[in-house]
Amino acid sequence: MDQIVIEGGASLRGRVVISGAKNAALPLICATILAPGRNVLNNVPRLGDVRTVLKLLAIIGAEVDMEWPRVVVDTSELDNPVAPYELVKTMRAAILVLGPLVARYGKAKVSLPGGCAIGARPINLHLKALEAMGADIEIKRGYVEVTCDRLRGARIDFPVATVGGTENVMMAASLADGVTEINNAAREPEIEDLADLLNAMGAKVEGAGTSRIVITGVDSLRAVEHHVIPDRIEAGTFMVGAALNRGEVELAGVRPAHLIPVIDALRSAGASVDIQDDRLFVRGPAELKPFNLTTEPHPGFPTDMQAQFMVLALAARGTSMITESIFENRFMHVPELVRMGADIDITSRSATIVGPARLEGATVMATDLRASASLILAGLIAEGTTQVLRVYHLDRGYENIVEKLGGLGAGIQRVSSEFF
Ligand code: EPU
Repeated sequence: MDQIVIEGGASLRGRVVISGAKNAALPLICATILAPGRNVLNNVPRLGDVRTVLKLLAIIGAEVDMEWPRVVVDTSELDNPVAPYELVKTMRAAILVLGPLVARYGKAKVSLPGGCAIGARPINLHLKALEAMGADIEIKRGYVEVTCDRLRGARIDFPVATVGGTENVMMAASLADGVTEINNAAREPEIEDLADLLNAMGAKVEGAGTSRIVITGVDSLRAVEHHVIPDRIEAGTFMVGAALNRGEVELAGVRPAHLIPVIDALRSAGASVDIQDDRLFVRGPAELKPFNLTTEPHPGFPTDMQAQFMVLALAARGTSMITESIFENRFMHVPELVRMGADIDITSRSATIVGPARLEGATVMATDLRASASLILAGLIAEGTTQVLRVYHLDRGYENIVEKLGGLGAGIQRVSSEFF
């Protein structure tokens, strides 16, 4: 299996172009189920998770053509509303086919996702919402089986803001009979991108980006062409990389408005961030300052940037505190960072980080995507060589990360190894 090898010490310098957003592309691809015909998505990142969801669409009966970064999904004739365990177990976002399949076919059989490396991540809120819309739900042999005649509009009050739950309901409600109101809806930019796609298809979705979304169901939707928004988490990861080791990086093709909490947090650590249209200029200071942050639903600080900011805290002089409020088990990178010499103490959901750390390169591995990204960043500030194993996590969510970091001057390469 491949590994990524990083020589510590280099500053990132130059320009990097940010790819399309994984977490936008996944629901957009699922939404094509709702609109029979030839759907064209542009700016789709070439990633493991995107391939997985396209494979799922092919199993369902779509014709899929990958001409990266353009992907064509022809959903004219779908005949198999099933998401098998083999796919769902590798990517929880596969649950996003549930709403669209039930809306188009009146039935779906989707494997329950099971546990996850960052927390339990149940789908109870997705199911409860579909039930409120008139679906009949049964759990059988590890699968959720949903049937209904036509979904009907309902009022959904989410007790916690769920990104996937909001997306599933938006898609299901677009073809339902009547009006659906989602309260405490997730407000992430990816939700707005999905609303834009649905509205272009002929849906009536209002309020995306706020905590109250109202969807008036229509009888049918038509296939469209759409451009995926840039990946704010990929951008944020490069921004942290730039702030380390006094780097200086221009990020092109971003939406700065999606990155406000990340920009604010970087500035509070002493980095300079200049915004020019769809470009960001990030410069690392001579000495980073400690900071405190808590992850929150958008527009708060994203949980998907927590692990990367842990490395920024390690590079800062003083004591920082990072609290994870979204997922109960998202500090899996900490033991690996400690193996590299980090001083991090975890109490309940908060990590106390003492810097500046003198990290030493080591062989490390992580159990999820963002944790793996943080180990690469740690490798940049460590002395000597760091080998990051389980590279497939990175392949799921960062397009060409080795090429992009290498282009900015990092000492990084991907090597095949028969031993790992
Ligand atoms: N939750 C429930 N019940 C549900 C659904 C969610 O209790 O039915 C809880 C979760 O356990 C969690 C909280 O609600 O504590 C928020 O979870 P959410 O549903 O918002 O997460 P998600 O939709 O499963 C998406 C991203 C994640 C990102 C989270 C939070 C995609 C494909 N995934 O997951 O991205 O961390 O929102 O922002 O959009 C990643 O890219 O690395 C990643 C994990």
